[in-house]
Amino acid sequence: MNLQRRNRILRQSPTIRSMVAETSLSASDFIVPLFIDEGENVKTEIASMPGYYRMSLDFTVKEVKELWSMGLKSVLLFIKCKDELKDNRGTEALNPNGLMQRSIKAIKNAVPEMLVMTDVALDPFSSYGHDGIVDGSEIVNDATVDVLAKMSVSHAQAGADFVAPSDMMDGRIGAIRKALEENSFTKTGIMSYSAKYASCFYGPFRDALDSAPGFGDKKTYQMDYHNRIEAVKETLMDIEEGADIVMVKPALAYLDVIREVKNAVTIPVSAYNISGEYAMIKAAAKMGWIDERKAILETLTAIKRAGADLIATYFAKDAVKLLE
Ligand code: PBG
Repeated sequence: MNLQRRNRILRQSPTIRSMVAETSLSASDFIVPLFIDEGENVKTEIASMPGYYRMSLDFTVKEVKELWSMGLKSVLLFIKCKDELKDNRGTEALNPNGLMQRSIKAIKNAVPEMLVMTDVALDPFSSYGHDGIVDGSEIVNDATVDVLAKMSVSHAQAGADFVAPSDMMDGRIGAIRKALEENSFTKTGIMSYSAKYASCFYGPFRDALDSAPGFGDKKTYQMDYHNRIEAVKETLMDIEEGADIVMVKPALAYLDVIREVKNAVTIPVSAYNISGEYAMIKAAAKMGWIDERKAILETLTAIKRAGADLIATYFAKDAVKLLE
């Protein structure tokens, strides 16, 4: 053959492949979700997330030190609220001595440079397991936004670097920014879950926090997975309202959405490689059907290639080890 172009030239050795790679992963791409429990000496494996744990604060602080030593720079905190503290208005979420607030302080105290991001939504605190206040069968928007804004201020007071509203109520980013400004928290960032879809892949996470909705589903506030352009609308509005980082969630079945959003905005885009995506890889690997290590790197690289600048992932530690 007399070929003018031979594309395999650039694929012939690891050296040339690594030199022309368009995408690369590094530890500073990752946000590490942490599940925090009351008590001491508690480390409970999450049944549907093998190898991932819910830990009491003493273990969490140790874990955060280890993450920092590995080059991981950001954690995203979720707490498991005791059943007896749950109510319809998420009252416990505003407790200045609540588990979230204590966790923020303890982590910032132990590793001040670690970027602490906090989940802002009512579901872990809600007796109904919904992200907002329930009235009859409705999830009420405006009253919920009020609580989310107060919750964000409370996290900022405790020392959170970023608040991360994961609820999908309308107008919450603007309300949170306004509340932060009014309370002089001018350095607190907002990472908005801007395009968060109602997804079956959140199941294992809801096991981890015991936060599954008690009735109905989340389709009146989380997005419909038939839609892509709507993600751009949601994201642009959140930026307008004051988001510093936007997010697409889930990640894997939504790579097209990540790219669409990335092309539409000029601020960092994150993606959440969620619990069900973790569980699928773990389960197939356990069966011997896929190579877990390769699946982790291929998946995370694909999410980055799609346009995510940051990736929240339960595989962060594994990925850093694999990249070494
Ligand atoms: C709830 C919340 C969820 C996740 C993060 N925050 C679940 C939900 O919306 O029901 C899911 C994360 C994951 O599945 O890994 N505010």
